[in-house]
Amino acid sequence: MLTPINSTLFTFERNNKMEQQTEKKKIVFSAIQPSGTITLGNYLGAVKNWVNMQDEFNCIYALADLHTITVRQEPAKFRKNIIDAYASILACGIDPEKSLFFIQSHVNTHAQLAWVLNCYTQFGELSRMTQFKDKSAKHADNVNAGLFTYPTLMAADILLYQADMVPVGADQKQHLEISRNIADRFNGLYGNVFKVPEPYIPTKGARVMSLQDPTKKMSKSDENVNACVTLMDSPDVIMKKFKRAVTDSEACVKYAEGKDGINNLMGIYSCITGKTFEQIEAEFEGKGYGDFKTAVGEAVIEELRPVREKYEQYIADKTYMQECYTKSAEIAQKYSQRTLSKAMKKIGFVMP
Ligand code: TRP
Repeated sequence: MLTPINSTLFTFERNNKMEQQTEKKKIVFSAIQPSGTITLGNYLGAVKNWVNMQDEFNCIYALADLHTITVRQEPAKFRKNIIDAYASILACGIDPEKSLFFIQSHVNTHAQLAWVLNCYTQFGELSRMTQFKDKSAKHADNVNAGLFTYPTLMAADILLYQADMVPVGADQKQHLEISRNIADRFNGLYGNVFKVPEPYIPTKGARVMSLQDPTKKMSKSDENVNACVTLMDSPDVIMKKFKRAVTDSEACVKYAEGKDGINNLMGIYSCITGKTFEQIEAEFEGKGYGDFKTAVGEAVIEELRPVREKYEQYIADKTYMQECYTKSAEIAQKYSQRTLSKAMKKIGFVMP
């Protein structure tokens, strides 16, 4: 049994007793969709940075399950994905005593503010979102209204917490931009209701590409299983995938344009070991790709070993996880309600 957490210990709540604060930590918000196993790409590109930000900032993290149903989900699998993702992210090192980490649908202010923001967002600007265009082409049989208003729900997620910074990958930058525009527009009409968030581009972290087609982002929905490493892959499987990684015919470990496969492996290796590209090039000078691939595979295996072990611990202790997400959601609910109420009051709603 894992030790139950004590919600009064949440530094988030302590730090947000504004009156008592001398130095205010910046607020960070980010979320990830629970749409399957967490990949090495999610880990190195996002979650590892979330972990590293926990001491410096007031971090609020969510599993964006409401966003996930914009694509049809099989109920049992969806439920399992949410619990698996929660356990995996805890296992990566998100500490529920330092940060909030909740499930979006447990905090009802998100859907409420999203509705309000829908009425302050134009059809035209939502039509221009590249993710909407891509996803509606991909799911042509289900171009639902949720897919269209996905960005306003994301804006609600962020604006509810008066977040100063939002760590996002390149593919979500346009969504952050529209969140900023919505906040500016609303503030222009009603005064300062929302903090206008800044994107946060972490100094560390890698954009991990497919091991089979390194011009494409690593994705769990890839048809080729060897393209993607997940946090739940066994050491043997991880090594096999790295040994089969697509490279080039040069046999020279060097970061260069056109060497997408090697660049990707170098990015992964650098992100895990902290070595620079120059150091990596020196380390593998005169050695072949076989040695390099084995070294990258081993680095990934050792990095993910404790994550997998902790995942097993968390997934076996549903009571503990439930306590984590329930307590986080309670605090998130209280905090976000203040922003929602403020916005609704400004609009002219009669407050209860
Ligand atoms: N749309 C994001 C993604 O798919 C997840 C997300 C939802 C998010 N709400 C957010 C990210 C708010 C940052 C801030 O990756």
